[in-house]
Amino acid sequence: MKLLILNGPNLNLLGLREPAIYGRETYDSLCARIAAHAAERGAEVEFYQSNHEGDLVDAIQGAFGDADGIVINPGAYTHTSIALLDAVKAVGVPTVEVHISDVDSREPFRSVSYIRAACLATISGHGTNGYLEAMDLLLERAQA
Ligand code: DQA
Repeated sequence: MKLLILNGPNLNLLGLREPAIYGRETYDSLCARIAAHAAERGAEVEFYQSNHEGDLVDAIQGAFGDADGIVINPGAYTHTSIALLDAVKAVGVPTVEVHISDVDSREPFRSVSYIRAACLATISGHGTNGYLEAMDLLLERAQA
């Protein structure tokens, strides 16, 4: 079982970026925690972060035939990108959307998620633990 962990714009700045909203954990330490979580469950993980929409589309396309699931935090592209929605629909790889903050209790524009329609579930507002919950959801689904 291989999971692709995709992060969109500004998530490379975790730890530094608005810590009152996103916490103090860095992107590297989050990746290390995800890798340990995967290893405990016998799963493989691949990480990719980009600030560029097309690169994220390419990564989703690359998951076809390669990954069994995608955990994606599209960052601000959540609220704007039909291209990411279409990419997830096109490849049909089971995908869970994650947001560190509770997007529905912030500015109204953050309540809009284009990609949500193509995702099995959305985990929002659980901090960085949301990534681990998304992984468990995909792993449980694959074993059912
Ligand atoms: C985010 C929420 C988005 O609205 C924001 O643009 C982000 C991070 C989150 O993880 O809470 O970049 O996806």
